[in-house]
Amino acid sequence: MEKETSLKRGGFATALGALIATLGSAIGLGNIWRFPYLTGENGGAAFLILYLISTFLVGLPVMIAEIMLGRAARANVITTLRRLSPSPRQPWWLIGAAGGLSAFLIMAFYTEVAGWVFAYVFRSLTSNILSTNPEVTTQMFLALVSDPFQSLLWQWIVLVLVGLIITFGVARGIEATTKRLIPLLFLLLLVVDVRALTLPGAVEGLTFLFKPDFSKITATAALIALGLAFFKLSIGMGAMITYGSYWKDDQNIPSTALRVALSDLAVSLLAGIAIFPVVFTYGFEPTAGAKLLFITLPAVFAQMPLGNFFIFIFFLLTSFAAIGAMVSLVEVVVAFLSEQFELPRKSATWLAIGALALVGSTAALSNSTLANFTLFGKTLFDLYDFVTSNVLLPLGGFFITLFVGWSLKPEFVKEQLTNRGQLNNDRVVRLFLILVRYVSPLLVLIVLLDSLNVF
Ligand code: TRP
Repeated sequence: MEKETSLKRGGFATALGALIATLGSAIGLGNIWRFPYLTGENGGAAFLILYLISTFLVGLPVMIAEIMLGRAARANVITTLRRLSPSPRQPWWLIGAAGGLSAFLIMAFYTEVAGWVFAYVFRSLTSNILSTNPEVTTQMFLALVSDPFQSLLWQWIVLVLVGLIITFGVARGIEATTKRLIPLLFLLLLVVDVRALTLPGAVEGLTFLFKPDFSKITATAALIALGLAFFKLSIGMGAMITYGSYWKDDQNIPSTALRVALSDLAVSLLAGIAIFPVVFTYGFEPTAGAKLLFITLPAVFAQMPLGNFFIFIFFLLTSFAAIGAMVSLVEVVVAFLSEQFELPRKSATWLAIGALALVGSTAALSNSTLANFTLFGKTLFDLYDFVTSNVLLPLGGFFITLFVGWSLKPEFVKEQLTNRGQLNNDRVVRLFLILVRYVSPLLVLIVLLDSLNVF
């Protein structure tokens, strides 16, 4: 009944390989595009505080829980939950089924944003996209997203590329690329940060990002910060269960997961430090929303020698980071389809990609043809984005904490996190159990209910 996934076959040879692949799923558009724009929209430093709390009190415990489950069962999401469940009658596998839906909806808008990144890679080669004038860079972006043909074209290019990578089983290639890419992305961000920090608006930008205005802490901001923590760490829908299934037996799960979370946070902060000084120097709006990255970056690169070349490299690295993240998302769908309907992987992949092109196009067209089509006051792009991060992922995470904290035996958790007593992790395990049983599920519940105005 279990089918191996090609990603899983063999597993990772080294602890470093597992760390890197996990980082490859975590680091993506979430750091470069989503973190800055949500921080800008939701009040800067105050939002950052909520995000840090969500990451370490909820995100990290859920991440450790997922990786632990995957490694213990060494199977895809649904099989993992079925196999570890104390009784076959408890439907914990539904978390995995819901995860398939989340993956689908995330991909629908993620491929569109990745398409914008690809378009900017291409444009930086064919034309001059640099300007410090907000009007100019904003118009350039709007011309892209309001053109239905270009939006669809770039999204489908992204989808085909992801499909090819998955069918050719170059997932291993992703590990090799990620290993080189993350340090490069890190370096380039540092360079951009130095430039941004020497702009006249640097102090204002840093103040916005690091000096909290506590009046900005609201129920909505808390929900969005929590959603971002889930989105960032690729948790709440089974991607980390799948990835955990090829972690090594002697790997220290809590400490490796902590390193993933910290590196991921570092990349987000570097992206924020690159963007907010530009915002305040040239008169952009921090609340510009999803277009923030695309309209501000051309301004900082305009102020750098070889700016056109560097912005090309920047978007190229970002597109690679996005691909690593997308592979981990589609992998969940493909594993789900091929197991549920006993399809060969290749058919499952192209079926998933075809369906994603259909659903994804409704997101791609939501800035043009479908701009006036809204549900609950949101375009489809915004709806998919909102529902996944702020509802589905937190709910998935909530049930994962219940499963690990309350349904599994504490002895089992201890055995897994100490690698059967080989690691001296007793205090970590005790802390983990407190977080996963009480703190994380309660925080998720409070934030979800609060955002529904229950209190
Ligand atoms: N973490 C990735 C990013 O920040 C996105 C991502 C990849 C993801 N896999 C996921 C989000 C699974 C939620 C669930 O870009």
